[in-house]
Amino acid sequence: MTSSRESRLHLTERPRRLRRTDALRRMSRETVLTPSDLIQPFFIVEGSGQRQPIPSMPGQARLSVDVLLEEVKQLQDLGVPGIALFPKVDDGRKTVGGDEAWNDDGLVPRAIKTLKDAFPDLMVIGDCALDPFTTTGQDGLLAEQTWPSGQQYLEIDNDRTVEALIKQALCEARAGVDVIAPSDMMDGRIGALRGALDEAGFERVCILSYAAKYASGFYGPFRDALDSAPRGGLDKKTYQMDPANRREALREVRLDLEQGADMVMVKPALPYLDVVMAVKEAVSVPVAAYHVSGEYAMLKAAAENGWLDGDRCMMEAVLSIKRAGADVILTYAAKELAAKL
Ligand code: PBG
Repeated sequence: MTSSRESRLHLTERPRRLRRTDALRRMSRETVLTPSDLIQPFFIVEGSGQRQPIPSMPGQARLSVDVLLEEVKQLQDLGVPGIALFPKVDDGRKTVGGDEAWNDDGLVPRAIKTLKDAFPDLMVIGDCALDPFTTTGQDGLLAEQTWPSGQQYLEIDNDRTVEALIKQALCEARAGVDVIAPSDMMDGRIGALRGALDEAGFERVCILSYAAKYASGFYGPFRDALDSAPRGGLDKKTYQMDPANRREALREVRLDLEQGADMVMVKPALPYLDVVMAVKEAVSVPVAAYHVSGEYAMLKAAAENGWLDGDRCMMEAVLSIKRAGADVILTYAAKELAAKL
């Protein structure tokens, strides 16, 4: 067959040739997202039969443990290997010191035990930070300091917080958690947690460090879900990273790996894909990225308004996180994406 058209440009390379058919496009695809890449975060509450919708996270709800079991069964059938748990703690159980975080009869350890009994192969990630449990909404414990002038102020007590995180991690380990994920950003917590876990006989428990966690506005809907926004005027900028910094992320990652982290995380994901890529190039452990509540919410909101094709954009967004270098992606869209993959 001869073409009626004559080639005018005489190009040696025509990248579009590989885009002509679906078969050619599939053959030249560089990144393939699979359900195994995804982790579904869950918000949990006391009670039974509870499915409390979270208005700023369309499609997401706070679940009681019995309902969570049904959801996890579906995720397992879809091939999603793991979940992360975040508790909505009743106001009456919150204290300045966050002691509920290491109550062996608390919501999180009970949920972990129930899940691991029902699904031994499920990867359960337990959060390690105090914010759902403190009346201050801070991830750490506050200490009162005094300026030379005599004026008093509050600051996060790093080392006392690490002692509390150890108690929380051991509590989750006793319940059977597979992975401890410190999301608090205190200095030195990875080494301290690794040491404490090993000493207590939990060498098998992994640590997924939130190594480069930024002080981000994109956590808003998560704080709605848990009613965990910082109270009393202090923000989290003295421990979470400055959004302007990338080299500092590599420093945090190096420190956490030196202290024994098995995996490192960048959070949020989409506004920090350059950081995901830099971390991926710098390390040989699995790199995780957290596609956070606000990233999820903005796509859902635009889709609900008819401004975007929500399904298509969600897939594109999460694929881009993998393309940037993430091996593990925590996303609230895990279930809906896995169902389409
Ligand atoms: C706190 C924590 C936060 C998230 C996970 N763990 C919020 C914060 O630092 O205030 C946010 C996750 C999300 O927005 O989806 N330890």
